[in-house]
Parts: sequence; C-alpha cells; structure tokens
Amino acid sequence: MIKAVIFDLDGVIVSTDEYHYKAWKFMSEKENIEFDRSINHRLRGVSRMESLHIILEKAKKVYTTEEKVKLAQIKNDYYVESLKNINESDILPGVLEVLSALKSNGIKIAIGSSSRNAKLILNRIKLTDQFEAIADGTDIKNSKPAPDVFLVAAVKLGIDPSECLVVEDAEAGIKAAKRAGMFGFAVGDAKKSQEADYKAEDIKELINVVLNNVK
Ligand code: BG6
Ligand code: MG
Repeated sequence: MIKAVIFDLDGVIVSTDEYHYKAWKFMSEKENIEFDRSINHRLRGVSRMESLHIILEKAKKVYTTEEKVKLAQIKNDYYVESLKNINESDILPGVLEVLSALKSNGIKIAIGSSSRNAKLILNRIKLTDQFEAIADGTDIKNSKPAPDVFLVAAVKLGIDPSECLVVEDAEAGIKAAKRAGMFGFAVGDAKKSQEADYKAEDIKELINVVLNNVK
C-alpha cells in the first residue's frame, strides 16, 4: 500500500542538470582539470563534495581539504548565480498534473533531494507550499545511495518507509530508495537501474501506479 510519494528534485521536478554541468565545467577549467559530460553523468544524485572528489580523480595535483572547500564554493557560487534564471517554466512536463492527482487522492508528497540548494530551487519554481515535507542535503550526512534523505522524509511525513514510493532519475537514488525499504519509480537515466520496481517513459504513469496500490 502506498501512502506517500517522495520526489527527487534535480532531474525529476526541475531540470537543473545543465546548470550543474556548466558550474563544474567552470571550476574544472579554472583548475585545468579534464571534465566532460561522461564524468558529469556520474554526479547525478551525488552530493556536492562527493561530486568534487569524482572530478578530482582527473586532477594533476593533490588538493588539501581547505582547497577542496574553496573549489566546491567556486562551483556553488556559479551554480547559485545561474539558478536566478529558473522559474515555473522550468518545471518538467507532467509534474504539476502528477502532484495534483496525488493530492486529490489523499497521497502525501515530499521532496528527498541531496541538494543543499533544494529550498532555494523550490522557491524559484514556486512549489515549496505543495510539499508536506522537504528533506534535503542540509538534513543528512550521507547522501544517496545511502537511504538517509528518504528516511528523513518519511519521518517528517509520519509514514512508514514500506508505504513510501520514491521517484528518481539517478541510479544512486533508486539504490537509496531500496535501502530505505521503499518502492523505487525510475524515470530518465534511472531506468538503467536493475533495482527499480517501476520504470516509466513519462512521469504521468506514476498516477496509475500509485492509485492501483492505495488499497
Ligand atoms: C543532486 C544532484 O540533486 O544534488 C547532484 O543530482 C548534486 O548533481 C547534488 O551534486 C548536490 O547539489 P548541491 O545543490 O547541494 O550542490
Ligand atoms: Mg536527480
């Protein structure tokens, strides 16, 4: 029985991937570190500092912790600046319809995102008030594929993990959902996951999946 749906944010509700890519590219070029879209692909769902560590695999020097913090800051400053460009028109197709169908059928909805910028983004796209709970990178130590962010979301909603379904575009996110004891609904890149309970071309397929599992 599904009582709640927990949505990843980046790549599920809004497409911020290109902004993340450009911001990491800016930092990498400054440092003369090789960085391309195939490396960027590995950063999906992964926290800021863990993403930096993946990028630094190609670095020609060893960075101190202090230097790493500065590099992450350079990336984030660039990223946050670019977020000024996003608005409601960046909400991905089908999302508003799905949220409204779930709500009118009494399903609780939450955000479970690794991003520390999640609340800023939700405010920019004017969706903050739609969610009963928001769990993000500021709530957790271990990011996806650890289950923490989804477990925090379930606690905030007051729903047992076994009654939650997670919507994800990252394989790491589906892994996290399964580790949390939840259902995993994969869209986009996450469809490659072997662990997903459901795979969809269109997020609107979520409506039937949930409504067929409410009793
Ligand atoms: C995830 C993105 O949602 O958030 C990752 O998929 C990103 O690419 C992570 O690294 C952390 O984001 P932020 O905004 O805290 O740097
Ligand atoms: Mg994502």
